[in-house]
Amino acid sequence: MDAVEAIKRQVDLVAYIGRFTQLQKSGRSFRGLCPFHSERTPSFYVFPERGTWRCFGQCGEGGDLFTFVQKRENLDFRAALQLLANEAGISLRDEDPRRRSQLERLVAVVSAAVGFYERQLREPGGAEAMAYLVERRGLSLETISAWHLGWAPEGWHHLRDFLLNRGYTEADILLAGLLVESDEDREPYDRFRGRIIIPIANERGEFVALGGRGIHGEEPKYLNSPQTEVFDKGRTLFGLHHAAPAIRENGEVVVVEGYMDVLGPWQAGYRNVVATMGTSLTRHHAILLRRFAPRIVLALDPDAAGMNAAARAGSLVLGFDSEEHAAASARSADELTAEVDVDLRVAALPPGRDPDELVRDDPRRWEDAIAGAVPFVEFLLLRLLGDRRPDSPTEARHLIDRLRPVLLAVRDPVERAIYVQRVARALGVTETSVADRLKPSRPSRRQPAGRPDPLNPEEVLLAMLLQHPALRLAYRNYPETLFSGAVEREIFRRWLRDPERAAEPVDEVGARAARLAAYRLPPLTDFEARRAADEKIAAVLRERIRLHQAARAEELSEAEQRLGPNRLAELAVAAWRGEVPPGEDRDLAEALIEELELGLSIHRREHPPAR
Ligand code: UTP
Ligand code: MN
Repeated sequence: MDAVEAIKRQVDLVAYIGRFTQLQKSGRSFRGLCPFHSERTPSFYVFPERGTWRCFGQCGEGGDLFTFVQKRENLDFRAALQLLANEAGISLRDEDPRRRSQLERLVAVVSAAVGFYERQLREPGGAEAMAYLVERRGLSLETISAWHLGWAPEGWHHLRDFLLNRGYTEADILLAGLLVESDEDREPYDRFRGRIIIPIANERGEFVALGGRGIHGEEPKYLNSPQTEVFDKGRTLFGLHHAAPAIRENGEVVVVEGYMDVLGPWQAGYRNVVATMGTSLTRHHAILLRRFAPRIVLALDPDAAGMNAAARAGSLVLGFDSEEHAAASARSADELTAEVDVDLRVAALPPGRDPDELVRDDPRRWEDAIAGAVPFVEFLLLRLLGDRRPDSPTEARHLIDRLRPVLLAVRDPVERAIYVQRVARALGVTETSVADRLKPSRPSRRQPAGRPDPLNPEEVLLAMLLQHPALRLAYRNYPETLFSGAVEREIFRRWLRDPERAAEPVDEVGARAARLAAYRLPPLTDFEARRAADEKIAAVLRERIRLHQAARAEELSEAEQRLGPNRLAELAVAAWRGEVPPGEDRDLAEALIEELELGLSIHRREHPPAR
């Protein structure tokens, strides 16, 4: 008997399908509402004797247990077979776990664990957990089955024993993150104990990790699989495989923060929802989601969102408690959307309520919140503005200045113009007045309208450094005298101190840095930026030498004539030793020192001492 036959015998088709739609006996078959399309009168039939099912309604689909699982779970045959084998608790004989590649093996280990925990939930020992899910969390049996929720019993080696018996190696179970290595000489033990199990699949529907929720107020509330060869939470979105069809259909994906915030809306029929798992949205997440839809809506409890959720570089930052935080958020969103062409929006939920609670209590409010999502930057602007509206010109100026750092963080001129327009409208002032106020307040040379000032080489260099914080290591030993202006030097000092924050528009210098940070440079990797910056530095120094030479040429040739070449050389040597002679030659000596140092410093940089 092969595995397919064994599974068909072991898994009761009526009971299995009955998890997803209620079935009534009708003659020799069973009848219910089709789980694949919405209908009011039941036209979906299960024929237990033949082991088949068919919808005689709109979708006309039909098949056996395997096709049901494939369709229901959006899986290929192999994956459906694996899932059902786990369901039945039988191992696939032709797939010796040891012969598969490591990644496949780890996915298989996690899948087997999912099947094990699913069965535990339905054992008497899982009754309390089941009651928690159904009564306390309001989940239906259909939802529980569709998401393969499970229960990890108390105890140190239930899963370990089960998986070892099934032929998985301890090494693989460890690598899959399901066991914890113990410090002493004892055996590794089960990571998940006494927790509801929430399986985490990748976008292909392969189980890669588990989340475990305590039901008695344990700390931590959720325990997740660690990072493994198959699981990186910065690249995985909970629920994506389930949500994918609805995301494609809606052209929009809603991103929430918690597992339960996916399950609640899913059960209520909002199925284009995925969750990050305790991190903010990363560029990897955005790239992944962009494959499914052009619009990402972050559904957030606005009071809970804070800079604390702001993760490391490469993740979206969301804070709006201050102008600096809002500006930092705008920059992170600008970066993300510059790299991933996606319409990033924010839906503000009523304070203090997660999606899970909201869809249950007030589905209309949830729908309105999602439909009313505004572009990320607009959200920041609205938050900063609150309900303040100017009642005097001074007030208007203050408000615009508050919004300025956020507006300056938007690099795309078209996008920025749109925000300027919205701000102007909200404040009841003209667009030009807002746009004018964004310009740096240093005396500006007149520029043709609409064109940003072209930057000089020093400014371009600074812009590169500001846009590539990773270059700090390479340039940390450069003297600030690389730049000629005091403001540029100050920006460079701040960049050396903290490259991520140097462009926060906290003051005039910061505003100028922000403008440089927002300057549109060709997109470069850090590596390319490093080479480009090196070239720029050489260009800056060459230009400086040229200017110096031009300025000093006259002075030096006059001095040479006056003092003779020998005396000039003596003077140069004295200057080099730092023995500046007193008297009339002081200026000349200083000019020579400058020349020498400049020449030497360039020389040193272009020919670094060999190690
Ligand atoms: P929440 O505590 O908001 O999650 O944390 P939730 O899903 O709404 O929780 P309950 O069940 O309704 O109370 C958001 C997400 O952060 C991660 C989980 O991914 C969780 O879903 N998290 C939270 C952890 O990883 N560990 C924790 O201890 C808490
Ligand atoms: Mn919750």
